[in-house]
Amino acid sequence: PAAAQAAPHGRTPETVAHRGASSYAPENTLASIDAAARLGFDWVENDVQRTKDGELVILHDNSLARTTNVKKVFPDRSPWSVSDFTLKEIEKLDAGSWFGPKFAGERVPTLEDYMDEVEDNDQSLLMELKSPELYPGIELQTLRELRRAGWLDRDHVKNRLIIQSFNADAIKTVHELRPDLKTGFLGNPSVADLPKFAKYCDQINPVHTAVTPQYVAAVHALKGPHRRPLDLYTWTVDDAATAVKVADLGVDGIITNKPDVVRAALERR
Ligand code: G3P
Ligand code: CA
Repeated sequence: PAAAQAAPHGRTPETVAHRGASSYAPENTLASIDAAARLGFDWVENDVQRTKDGELVILHDNSLARTTNVKKVFPDRSPWSVSDFTLKEIEKLDAGSWFGPKFAGERVPTLEDYMDEVEDNDQSLLMELKSPELYPGIELQTLRELRRAGWLDRDHVKNRLIIQSFNADAIKTVHELRPDLKTGFLGNPSVADLPKFAKYCDQINPVHTAVTPQYVAAVHALKGPHRRPLDLYTWTVDDAATAVKVADLGVDGIITNKPDVVRAALERR
């Protein structure tokens, strides 16, 4: 918006809907990305994990307990790890009622269904490989599924997809398998270590409390594998004052459960 671009503190960061618009719909469901789309947000974030029978699904916690009715459906399967359930079992679960009755019947999406919805909504994806150390080979498997979904063509790779993780080895593997893809490291490596990350990461994505002017400058001073200055996306910012603060510090992206709150704050800035 013109008001945001005219702000005195430089350009406006990208706003990324964290787990979808997860303050308004159950996180990591199709409803949450649809909610982001309805609010007008192109970029959504998700978390990818793997079932017992090797299917990729979208879920944040390693356990199904918090965001589904798994305890009711399978009471004897504590700690309800996603890796202990087949896709068929997970498809029986309600991933919406915990959030509100109007979301009853939402499912834990497969990666395939999720990608179709993102595509139908004309959105872009900041994809997190969540706990990839639990799922050997998930990097290659994810890339194969993305290719099948049509997400490794030039336009998607260049403009609509970033793969991030807290696990640096996983990101390195993604970069080696598909050097053209954009990647991000979740965390705040020391300034001295940043050049190592710049070999295979296009983004450094720290928690917002770790963002300082010096850190932003150190990140921006380095060029990534695609010979462009590194970007810094920060998380999880859900209030206007923090959104303005990190925008003023020069971050390139704000990952938020409340994208509408962040957008309004940036427009007023
Ligand atoms: O995208 C940043 C953020 O998702 C990292 O933390 O725990 O919400 O996956 P978490
Ligand atoms: Ca995440």
